[in-house]
Amino acid sequence: MVRLVKPNIKYKKSFLEAQEEFKIEDRQDDTLKGLRDNFPAYIKLLKNQEKGRDLPNGYVPASVYWLVDGDKFIGKVSIRHKLTELLRKYGGHIGYEIRPSERKKGYGAKILALALKKSEQLGIKKVLVTCNEDNIGSKKIIEKNGGIFESKVKADSGKDSGKIKLRYWINIYD
Ligand SMILES: CC(C)(COP(=O)(O)OP(=O)(O)OC[C@H]1O[C@@H](n2cnc3c(N)ncnc32)[C@H](O)[C@@H]1OP(=O)(O)O)[C@@H](O)C(=O)NCCC(=O)NCCS
Repeated sequence: MVRLVKPNIKYKKSFLEAQEEFKIEDRQDDTLKGLRDNFPAYIKLLKNQEKGRDLPNGYVPASVYWLVDGDKFIGKVSIRHKLTELLRKYGGHIGYEIRPSERKKGYGAKILALALKKSEQLGIKKVLVTCNEDNIGSKKIIEKNGGIFESKVKADSGKDSGKIKLRYWINIYD
């Protein structure tokens, strides 16, 4: 059965295999670069960042969970505890990704549904989720999870600079 777990060394092998798949599409976890040989340090960093320590400038605390099936890493989700101006504009509370070999099996919709439960536990009442306008899969995932479209905005920084972002709110008490 698939479930969300806190990052844990026991998934190292499968997690690193998934990183190879992400590398092909240039989506490798930046935080992991240089920490590949020190996986416990990577796990510790994620734990610290959840508590608001060791955060890059401008970052807010975030809880990271991995979607796993048995020992297999399937995807990951990051839940930012609050919004900065930039996150409110187009970053959103929740970011997720499914490893390429496990896509189009419903895991994207599942990871967001499970992340919404975690958001509720974190006390977030209204969740902002965004996606690129051309990301059909993500748009469907957000709408399936009750996303109510608010607006479109052009990203003006980061790797998606110039791209149109769709902003949706999900009221988790509905
Ligand atoms: C977007 C992403 C999370 C989708 O994950 P997934 O596990 O394939 O999603 P699901 O299987 O739950 O698919 C949800 C719906 O989107 C559709 N879909 C998924 N990928 C699609 C694609 N590339 N093109 C068109 N439709 C797509 C599915 O067919 C499904 O449609 P249905 O409900 O009508 O059957 C995954 O492609 C990914 O990790 N991409 C890179 C990171 C990313 O874009 N994250 C989202 C940031 S906002």
